[in-house]
Amino acid sequence: MLDKGFHDVPPGAIATVVTHLEMREKPDLRPVSAPDGISLNFVTSPSTDWYRDLYTRVGGHDWLWFSRLAMSESELSAILTDPKVEVYAIELDGHAEGLLELDFRQDTECELAFFGLTTRMIGRGLGRFMMNAAIDHAWRKPITRFHVHTCTLDHPSALGFYQRSGFTPIRQQIEIADDPRLAGLIPRDAGSHIPIIES
Ligand SMILES: CC(C)(COP(=O)(O)OP(=O)(O)OC[C@H]1O[C@@H](n2cnc3c(N)ncnc32)[C@H](O)[C@@H]1OP(=O)(O)O)[C@@H](O)C(=O)NCCC(=O)NCCS
Repeated sequence: MLDKGFHDVPPGAIATVVTHLEMREKPDLRPVSAPDGISLNFVTSPSTDWYRDLYTRVGGHDWLWFSRLAMSESELSAILTDPKVEVYAIELDGHAEGLLELDFRQDTECELAFFGLTTRMIGRGLGRFMMNAAIDHAWRKPITRFHVHTCTLDHPSALGFYQRSGFTPIRQQIEIADDPRLAGLIPRDAGSHIPIIES
């Protein structure tokens, strides 16, 4: 149990507050239609190159997403080819601009593992369209719990957006990780809202 008060973050690391949220039954959805030229498509056996590119464009620069970039080729490939992991892409005129990943590997549960749009697509109603699809696909399976976590590196609207979607916060944690910019996983100018402290 961490003592209350301030805690030093080691040089070369970043600290975030992670909020875990869940829903225990399917909420009522407010239907929204896909804007012109937009579709959400299931991606059959995504290649690791395709996935890393979309993951980086969605989360790598602005939100310091790095967990999937730190994985070996075989680790990532094992996840992407697992029949219990479903990857969907928001596509604009055939080009992927959003990532939705549902993980059913835990029996009777679904994790909203990754959810996000490229920067230029944010704030156009697409998040709600994609969330409706996420909730629909998750609850089509015999699950009793749909869960997600978000952290203070993510878009500042994400936590409120998830709560408006029917998720309830149930737990918070502090995560300390090596700064992915110093590890060379993402460019040094990424995540300008989080300072790099080297020493
Ligand atoms: C989280 C995220 C997907 C939300 O997407 P978004 O584009 O901001 O979401 P929307 O614009 O659909 O939703 C915001 C609200 O504004 C409304 N809205 C905004 N612009 C709109 C428009 N042009 N037309 C219709 N509705 C619009 C939506 O209906 C929605 O209202 P509601 O929540 O009451 O339904 C997006 O911020 C994102 O990708 N962030 C970066 C990645 C990230 O941080 N992901 C979370 C990690 S856990």
